[in-house]
Amino acid sequence: MRIMDYGVYRAAEDRYSTMQYNRCGKSGVLMPAISLGLWQNFGFVNNYDNCEKILKAAFDKGITCFDLANNYGPPYGSAERNFGRIFDRNFKPYRDEMLITSKAGYDMWPGPYGNWGSKKYLVASCDQSLKRMGLDYLDIFYSHRYDPETPLEETMGALDYIVRSGRALYAGLSNYPADKFVEAVAILRRLGTPCLIHQIKYSMLVREIGESLFGAHEREGIGCTTFSPLAQGQLTDRYLNGIPQDSRAAREGFLKSAMVEENLPKVRALNEVAKRRGQTLAQMAISWQLGSGNVSSVLIGVSSTEQLDSNLAALDNTVFSAEEMAEINKILEA
Ligand SMILES: NC(=O)c1ccc[n+]([C@@H]2O[C@H](COP(=O)([O-])OP(=O)(O)OC[C@H]3O[C@@H](n4cnc5c(N)ncnc54)[C@H](OP(=O)(O)O)[C@@H]3O)[C@@H](O)[C@H]2O)c1
Repeated sequence: MRIMDYGVYRAAEDRYSTMQYNRCGKSGVLMPAISLGLWQNFGFVNNYDNCEKILKAAFDKGITCFDLANNYGPPYGSAERNFGRIFDRNFKPYRDEMLITSKAGYDMWPGPYGNWGSKKYLVASCDQSLKRMGLDYLDIFYSHRYDPETPLEETMGALDYIVRSGRALYAGLSNYPADKFVEAVAILRRLGTPCLIHQIKYSMLVREIGESLFGAHEREGIGCTTFSPLAQGQLTDRYLNGIPQDSRAAREGFLKSAMVEENLPKVRALNEVAKRRGQTLAQMAISWQLGSGNVSSVLIGVSSTEQLDSNLAALDNTVFSAEEMAEINKILEA
């Protein structure tokens, strides 16, 4: 037994054998091709044992990157608290094998200092996240969104301070429009804390943001991780026969049932392409991103280990023929 094998998980050789690791931009960091996010399904409202089971399974399958934010839950903060408890019970010996991220930028606590992009908010929120997760440091701390009211110098100065003070190893941006992304990257570079990664919304159903940014990521040598790659579950077989009671759309939160209905014709047509490729629709939606060369890590969400296992099999088939791409584009542009 090697010194790092603690017996709880498979041997490291096995854990790392099936995952693919991509360089994050021009940095030294390798990202798993598939990362796991804790936005939904990991709060106090969810079943703790299921959360623990999913996270352990993910780590055992070579997922090294776990994505959090201050307000993930519900309630806000509870995904970080659950993660902290699970980390303490299962992952402590493996801290150096994991990339753990958090963010601040959306509403978190009342009053003028619990939202947007001030240094006051970002530094306090980072400290709170570390406390909730019981960690000494984060691997990546993100500015969760561009704040038009705060000078970019202040928000980037906060990220630089967070890294220099040892709270995080790397700075990341999320949801920045292309022009502000380029400005922010230049400021961070000047400060000596280069931006590692940009986290953006991108899926077969939401392509515009990625298309406006991939060129800039490439030019700047910055990695890209894409969230909601399954359009919150729409690009799966979850809604092909109606809206299940236990699904995200049934909760009418960020995913509305009306949107699911509207996208269903495209989803059904894509499902037929996936079947011919010998994949599920979810696998195809992930493979489509991995094969493009624009994405360092596809950041998925899951509510069960079955979904996780099935999605990981996307790695087995990431090549698309010209005919398949043409057919997919035709469906998406209809
Ligand atoms: N930076 C930002 O502003 C931002 C915003 C949003 C998300 N994120 C990050 O991105 C992560 C992923 O976002 P997301 O959860 O929206 O991603 P997603 O992968 O598009 O959707 C995940 C949902 O799809 C369904 N699903 C997944 N695999 C499935 C399968 N094999 N079969 C059937 N259904 C399946 C599940 O829905 P059910 O729960 O209904 O089973 C699951 O909760 C978040 O956790 C977060 O870390 C970041």
